[in-house]
Amino acid sequence: MENFTFNVSTDIRFGKDRLGELPEVLNQFGKRVLLVYGGGSIKRSGLYGKIMDLMKENGNEVFEVSGVDPNPRIETVEQGAEICKAEDIDVILAVGGGSVIDCSKAIAGGAFYEGDLWEMVEKRGYMGDAVPLVTILTLAATGSEMNRGSVITNLKTKQKLGFGGPSFLPKASFLDPTLTFTVSEYQTAAGSADIFSHLMENYFDLTPGTDVQDGVAEGLMRTVIQNAPIALKDPENYDARANLMWASSLALNGLTGSGKAGTWSTHPMEHELSAFYDITHGIGLAILTPRWMEHVLNDETVDKLARFAREVFHVQESVPEMAARMGIQKLYDYFVACGIPMTLPEVGIEDDSAFEEMAAQAVAHSKIDTIGFQPLKKEDVVAIYEAC
Ligand code: NZQ
Ligand code: ZN
Repeated sequence: MENFTFNVSTDIRFGKDRLGELPEVLNQFGKRVLLVYGGGSIKRSGLYGKIMDLMKENGNEVFEVSGVDPNPRIETVEQGAEICKAEDIDVILAVGGGSVIDCSKAIAGGAFYEGDLWEMVEKRGYMGDAVPLVTILTLAATGSEMNRGSVITNLKTKQKLGFGGPSFLPKASFLDPTLTFTVSEYQTAAGSADIFSHLMENYFDLTPGTDVQDGVAEGLMRTVIQNAPIALKDPENYDARANLMWASSLALNGLTGSGKAGTWSTHPMEHELSAFYDITHGIGLAILTPRWMEHVLNDETVDKLARFAREVFHVQESVPEMAARMGIQKLYDYFVACGIPMTLPEVGIEDDSAFEEMAAQAVAHSKIDTIGFQPLKKEDVVAIYEAC
């Protein structure tokens, strides 16, 4: 196991009927609030009205950025940062899924950044100040509610880049599973695939001696496999939604990723699919993951892939390569059972004309060609896209 620091100080307020605590949390930072939300789901669910009533009663002065897109755009970040600067915002309240929270983090940093905000993203690390951030999560997926990362899209340059730093960690996050009852089947499946992928990305790493991280990841992966189908069939099942929500946060807050030396593989490839075709992140990951696993199956990786099959999907097969292949098939079948379209043409990517450029960017924007579970060169990435 490698050395690491684990300091995740987000004040988590988990459970139903806790929104009444919002004023007390916001008051720790001040009265001037920038409320950030997406395309309107929080208005349809009635959440917007409840939050506004609470803030009105609390004497908050509220400014708004609305219409944050899935795969949030740099232009929205610029708009929010302007408001923060002009209105002297004390705290940002992000209400939504990962896109809203990521956009809010970038706004929080942008408020202190002098210069072009896309350049801020392109630096990938952000060590400056940020406006304090409080989140109310409405979709279990990214873990952004309890981590330092943000992913922003520039459609003009066809780039989608992750960046982040210590000041982006939310000060507090409200995790109320009932707020996810209205999430569509498609987004529930996509979110669950994203949680699963975060666990897999951390798990498939060659660092020896990481029993804690791997054991926790296996338990969380089994939790997702068990609860996502329940939430899909019965969207208001509280415990299924609660388990997915807590798994979302724990999958990407450093718990299973710290102490590992490698880098992620499928996310860099997926971010290019989203950058070029604006597809749903979790769906892109589900399509790529089984093909990536097949591509990297070799003598060095077979034992970990077989362990995954046995511990996560209960495969009972003693020959490692057979077990590994059975695990890959089980994962594919599980995504199909969740209703996920499992080929690129099904999500509107009909031809391979951009594969070379996307593969070059995936390699350029990450370390997959050096410290991936198995190093992936541009040709490997193209082959994986083609297999999809
Ligand atoms: O915009 P609204 O109207 O709110 O609708 C959203 C959106 O259309 C809807 N939704 C959210 N909560 C809902 C709801 N609909 C009904 N009821 C609710 N309670 O769901 C749609 C998707 O929302 P989005 O926020 O885009 O989804 P997600 O949470 O999956 O976030 C995806 C973004 O996060 C990035 C992805 O790349 C993508 O840009 N990621 C962020 C990470 C991080 N910060 O750590 C890591 C991830 O790997 C990922 O890259
Ligand atoms: Zn992800």
